[in-house]
Order: sequence, then structure tokens, then C-alpha cells
Amino acid sequence: MYSKIAALAALVAFAEARFGQEGLVQNQISALGNFGNPGQAATLAGASPGVLLGGANACAKLELADQIVAELGNDPEVIAAAAALVAAEKNFNNFAASIPTICSDPNLPATPELRGIVPLVDPGVVGSDIENANSASSLTNPFNADGLSQADVAIANGFSNFTAQASDGSTADVGAGGNAGGNAGGNAGDNAGNNGNNGNGNNVDNGNANNGNNGNVN
Ligand SMILES: *[C@@H]1O[C@H](CO)[C@@H](O)[C@H](O)[C@H]1NC(C)=O
Repeated sequence: MYSKIAALAALVAFAEARFGQEGLVQNQISALGNFGNPGQAATLAGASPGVLLGGANACAKLELADQIVAELGNDPEVIAAAAALVAAEKNFNNFAASIPTICSDPNLPATPELRGIVPLVDPGVVGSDIENANSASSLTNPFNADGLSQADVAIANGFSNFTAQASDGSTADVGAGGNAGGNAGGNAGDNAGNNGNNGNGNNVDNGNANNGNNGNVN
């Protein structure tokens, strides 16, 4: 019995340590008091923990990030705080799911400076090493996000162990192995095709056929 309580206490401490990340984003937003009208930054900061909760829509934090820039302007300090929210880890309920959700709305975030940034995910999720490295680098070097949702950008850069969620709340399985292989194969095929068209090589047709097949098999 005692060991069960001790184990539970350790779990709670771990959860609280991870929950602290949300506080960091909140502090960064509330520090924007010099921008916008008095109280605006504090109100936006107060809304930030709610959009990172397990039950929140995965697109809600992107909407809030857009709202931060819409209300406080696009000073680099404001952009940095809004970008931190875009990159922040959204919790998921470990009892209900084992993988995170990422927004699949290609129109979010709308702010150009916030596009191409992918989110951190729980380090317990398979593939999180890739995704968390991508998230860190995307804050300084955003990925290509032309016409792509945050979910699309994550997949295009090697992480697909998540559930995609649209703004209306509907979800779709991304299907870790399958789609990643298919997309990677498809992209490789497209690139090879484009390269072939740019060059004057004799083997353009062979190249397309082979790459396409590889993509499908994967
Ligand atoms: C996704 O991550 C979960 C852990 O959260 C793991 O149980 C599962 O096997 C992973 N799925 C794939 C396809 O890697």
C-alpha cells in the first residue's frame, strides 16, 4: 500500500514538472504588457493554459497564437511568445489515448511568422525524439508550410505517431507507419520526377516508375 502511494506521488510530481512548461508559455505572454491595451496581454496569457489541456481542440492554441499577434502586434517579442505557444506541448489524457493530437487545419496559424513551426510532444511517445528536435529547430528555421497544416508539416518532417484533429473537432488517424511511408515515397517520387524534368536525362521515365513503386510498397 505504501509503495503504491509513493509511486502515485512520484507520478504526480512528474506530471506537475511537465505541467510547468505551460506556465513558461503563460509567463512569456503575460510579459507582453507593453503591447496592446492595458490588460490585454494578461487576458491572453490567462487563456493559454486552457488551450494546452488534454481536452482542448488541437487547433485552439493556434487560434490563440493568431489572436495574440492580432491584438498585440507583430513586434519580435510578441511573435516569439506566440511562436512558443504554437510550439508548446499539448497534453493528452494518458488514460484515454497514448498519442497526442495535432491540428490538421491548413489555414492555422494564419500569421505568416507563425507558420512552419511544429509542436513538442510527450517524450514518452514513440517518435518524440524526432518531433521534439524538429520543434526546437522550427522555432528558428520554420519548415515549409505552404498550404499545409501543422499536422501535415509534422508528417512531412518524419513524425506521424499522432491523431490529426480539425478545427471542428473531428479526428483522423494518421497511421504512423503507413502514411509516413506513403508520403515519403510520394514526395521522393515527385522530387525525382521534377529533377528528371529539369535535366535532359534519358532515364526520366524509368526513374518515375521506380520511385513511385517504392513509395507504394513502403
Ligand atoms: C506511438 O506511441 C505510442 C506511445 O505513446 C506507442 O505505444 C505506439 O507503439 C507508437 N506507435 C507507432 C506506430 O510508433
